[in-house]
Amino acid sequence: MAKVGALGLAWLCFALLATSSHADPKAIPIDAIEVVPPGTPVESPPSPPASPPPPPATVGSPVFAPIAPIVAPISGPVSSTPAVGKVMFWDEFYTNFGDKNTVFPGTPTGSTIQLGLDNTTGSGFRSKYPYLYGHLSMKLKLVGGNSAGTVTSYYLASVFTKWCELDFEFLGNVSGQPYILQTNVFSEGKGDREQRIYLWFDPSADYHSYGILWNEKLILFLVDDVVIRVYHNVAGLGSEYPPYLTYQPMYIYSSIWNGEKWATRGGADKTDWSQQPFLASYTEFDVENACKVKGENDNEINVCNEQLKTSSYNDAAHQTLTDVQIEDLRRTRDQYIIYDYCTDAKRFNVTPVECAINWP
Ligand SMILES: *[C@@H]1O[C@H](CO)[C@@H](O)[C@H](O)[C@H]1NC(C)=O
Ligand SMILES: *[C@@H]1O[C@H](CO)[C@@H](O)[C@H](O)[C@H]1NC(C)=O
Repeated sequence: MAKVGALGLAWLCFALLATSSHADPKAIPIDAIEVVPPGTPVESPPSPPASPPPPPATVGSPVFAPIAPIVAPISGPVSSTPAVGKVMFWDEFYTNFGDKNTVFPGTPTGSTIQLGLDNTTGSGFRSKYPYLYGHLSMKLKLVGGNSAGTVTSYYLASVFTKWCELDFEFLGNVSGQPYILQTNVFSEGKGDREQRIYLWFDPSADYHSYGILWNEKLILFLVDDVVIRVYHNVAGLGSEYPPYLTYQPMYIYSSIWNGEKWATRGGADKTDWSQQPFLASYTEFDVENACKVKGENDNEINVCNEQLKTSSYNDAAHQTLTDVQIEDLRRTRDQYIIYDYCTDAKRFNVTPVECAINWP
């Protein structure tokens, strides 16, 4: 019964949102993630989060070179055969703010989009439809050189009353200093689950894949198919643990925006506007291995629930972590983490209950 009620509520909100978005995409420039109160569209450009996450608890090596490269074998691709490069931008997405700063380089036109940030606006795009379960990924090549103050994002968001998000946010840096990748999970309006890592490569030198695998048992955050974070579906943890994301279709969003008040060394390094425009590129839009929710009715959600049962992203191999994925997570924690809400005793008197389950 409870599930049906939640489904109905989520669906009502979805229907409202979908109606307005299809009527006029420009009307809902939802782009800044932590900033947007549930269900409230904001005007672009986005403002930075009111209370930015605290600075890293510990600071690792500040430059790329000393960060140990991953030498152990990494996990294989999580999806059967992603239809890489076949999806044209316009098939599945549209720009939702800062149009004047978007360009479509590469061949064929539409295989890549470049989002720009200048001193007047950032820019962003979103998917036409939401997705429920599956494997979603894109390749990103971030702003090179002095990217201090810039924030580039790729995230999923439900934008319902019961607001949910799965976030990748890339915090730029001055030349030669490492980006930070911040991830976060929102469930039913509750976030505050930031983790920050340094990557084991320079994300501005080349394209790398960032993705989510989402089924009824777990949500994996993937960087080049390496698991850097997992969020398990566990029952019985009490009211402190918001529900797992089981019924809310999520739109895909990407954006670049000005976060100079907080992004780089806690705001100490500002954006150097003489370097504008700042450009981030996106390509290889993989949405083919996820369930697209095409219509505004409960039946479409049920279609995805049914599809989940027989899909490759929900098979036995994807319901628990493999040994290699456990090693990936351990390595992430041992070598790349620079901030973890799970170990932030200043912020949380009691360690959040899910932490013991989500780290191996
Ligand atoms: C933005 O940059 C341009 C080019 O450098 C400059 O002419 C303009 O005054 C700047 N605008 C603002 C609001 O800073
Ligand atoms: C930028 O570089 C500084 C100095 O190495 C480092 O402390 C910081 O974590 C880096 N990343 C960001 C986004 O501030």
